[in-house]
Amino acid sequence: MKIVSTIEEVRNQVKEWRKEGQKIGFVPTMGYLHEGHMSLIDAAGENDKVVVSIFVNPMQFGPNEDLASYPRDLEHDAAMCEAHGVDLIFHPTPEEMYGESFYSYVDMNVLTQELCGLSRPVHFRGVCTVVAKLFNIVTPDKAYFGQKDAQQLAIIKRMVKDLNMPLQIVGCPIVREEDGLAKSSRNTYLSKEERKAALVLSRSIFLGKEMVEKGERDAKKVITAMTAEIEKEPLAKIDYVKMVDLETMQQVETIEGGILTAIAVYIGKTRLIDNFMFGLGK
Ligand code: PAF
Repeated sequence: MKIVSTIEEVRNQVKEWRKEGQKIGFVPTMGYLHEGHMSLIDAAGENDKVVVSIFVNPMQFGPNEDLASYPRDLEHDAAMCEAHGVDLIFHPTPEEMYGESFYSYVDMNVLTQELCGLSRPVHFRGVCTVVAKLFNIVTPDKAYFGQKDAQQLAIIKRMVKDLNMPLQIVGCPIVREEDGLAKSSRNTYLSKEERKAALVLSRSIFLGKEMVEKGERDAKKVITAMTAEIEKEPLAKIDYVKMVDLETMQQVETIEGGILTAIAVYIGKTRLIDNFMFGLGK
């Protein structure tokens, strides 16, 4: 496994693989890897070569967010990647990615105007821009994203479609801790007490999912029950509990077709997200 930090090194390696007719799978990450990331890497193993990027992208953090404190551990990440058969890690500096000045952005309407797009106004512009750049650098055949960031996944799929990017986007299921908490690099911010309190997210998700699976079709009833469950936990502060159309990310009143039920909840100062999807086979 190679670890490189320049765009030129990635391009040279990919050029060699392409000459040999190798297919490339790509997993973009911000590092501090956990089993959720490993499930993406394992899925990318269906290609001949697997590239992982590790880059804490300043452009997708708002001014009062956790860019400075975002956890980083390249040595640990490299060991995990090696153990899962990764061929190349791209670990650039912000200067390598954005140079001394940077004026071009990839932005998106509609899909970014709900859920995390409301509470994190610059976030998806930063995500789309960096992911488009990474796709241009790595030129993968397939790229793998987690369904935990369901809005991000929908946005990336739409960007690829709208801008005719020549690759396939693969969404992979949420990976959870044994007690239900969705895996996230941000779980590391939680104190022991907060870690326990954070279980309210998955409890609320499982409750909503069960209601929908048992036939409830009134979005408001599901959201009310999920909200009440979260409000039982004194350390939790709701950012949103919403049900949206899976393709447009616009709120729905009735559950039909593909829907995404997504929540964002502060546990102390840590903002965590979770979701469930229903009716994917539309
Ligand atoms: O999901 C993430 O970790 C990031 O948003 C991504 C896709 C790597 C872009 O920085």
